[in-house]
Amino acid sequence: RRPVGVAVLGHGTVGAEVARIIREDAADLEARIGAPLELRGVAVRDASRDRGLPAELVTTNAEALIRRDDVDIVVELIGGIELPRKLVRTALDSGKSVVTANKALLAAYTGELAEVAEARNVDLYFEASVAGAIPVIRPLTQSLAGDKVNRVVGIVNGTTNYILSAMDETGADYDETLAEASRLGYAEADPTADVEGFDAASKAAILASIAFHTRVTAADVYREGISSITAADLTSARALNCTIKLLALCERVPSADGKDRVSARVYPALVPREHPLASVNGAFNAVVVEAESSGRLMFYGQGAGGAPTASAVMGDLVMAARNRVQGGRGPRESKYAQLEIAPMSDI
Ligand code: NDP
Ligand code: HSE
Repeated sequence: RRPVGVAVLGHGTVGAEVARIIREDAADLEARIGAPLELRGVAVRDASRDRGLPAELVTTNAEALIRRDDVDIVVELIGGIELPRKLVRTALDSGKSVVTANKALLAAYTGELAEVAEARNVDLYFEASVAGAIPVIRPLTQSLAGDKVNRVVGIVNGTTNYILSAMDETGADYDETLAEASRLGYAEADPTADVEGFDAASKAAILASIAFHTRVTAADVYREGISSITAADLTSARALNCTIKLLALCERVPSADGKDRVSARVYPALVPREHPLASVNGAFNAVVVEAESSGRLMFYGQGAGGAPTASAVMGDLVMAARNRVQGGRGPRESKYAQLEIAPMSDI
């Protein structure tokens, strides 16, 4: 069978792990896909660093790599918004499937990118964009496609959960724990995105969009971070038999005129110790989904870090490659009516 060519954009915490798996697990991946999955190149900012890759695979020209005729799937793991927007558009416009872990990009431009993917009849997969290794995008877009989701609530940022858990359990220092989260590869390149709740807000926008079949952007999400949480706040929470977690809440809000609206918000909240989310610690994440027929579902696992995130990326990559080999396409975006965003004063 004709090989499926892959371009990986970015060779940082996640990209290095994805490139490693493609190269080292080639035989298993070929068996699962039905054709060889071949790494055509890896785009980076600094090509002079030794990355343990053959020199001919490393390039600083992401655009040229994407446009190569022998590249079928582009995996975007650079981060940021405007550069990946341009690169992902180029890929989709050229008929390549795209896999991305970039929640900031999706929360800003998911509509635009989904439309290009639809027009070009190619896959745009993003399981890794929310909650690292935890399958949550696919359950919401596929398994629950016939149910009516009313609420999604979760801990979706590993860095802040790592910090809050350490402060709660051992009285660890905020700044030191944040530096440790960066060292472990959990935090964003600019950790302000984590601690001020922007990263969780992007994830809330993605979750609300797919759960309620509407379009919610990060700008629609009410947001507070954890930078003002102190050791004294955690002590007070403990006295109430609670802990503090940064929660993302997405809700369907019924209104008197019968038209549902949507609310998405991110803030540190008191969580009673007996609630399942209270025992989600470290860089783990959990997402609770409440739907009319299924009732309550809970998804739990590692929410950040190179290997867990690469697991989700590789799942998408295998799906996209299978579609290339066997024909077919992944789930299309729902056709929906745009739901209004409920103002915070109504919540
Ligand atoms: P890193 O900062 O570790 O890696 C970014 C990579 O992009 C680096 O290899 C860098 O090159 C490369 N890069 C930067 N600018 C350019 C450019 N102009 N052209 C080509 N390459 C460039 O990021 P992560 O791996 O942590 O994250 C990647 C994406 O995955 C982000 O969108 C992030 O939000 C998302 N994500 C991350 C998770 C995590 O736990 N880390 C979890 C889930 C999602 P160089 O090596 O030369 O600097
Ligand atoms: N910085 C993110 C986090 C990475 O800490 O959750 C995973 O999306």
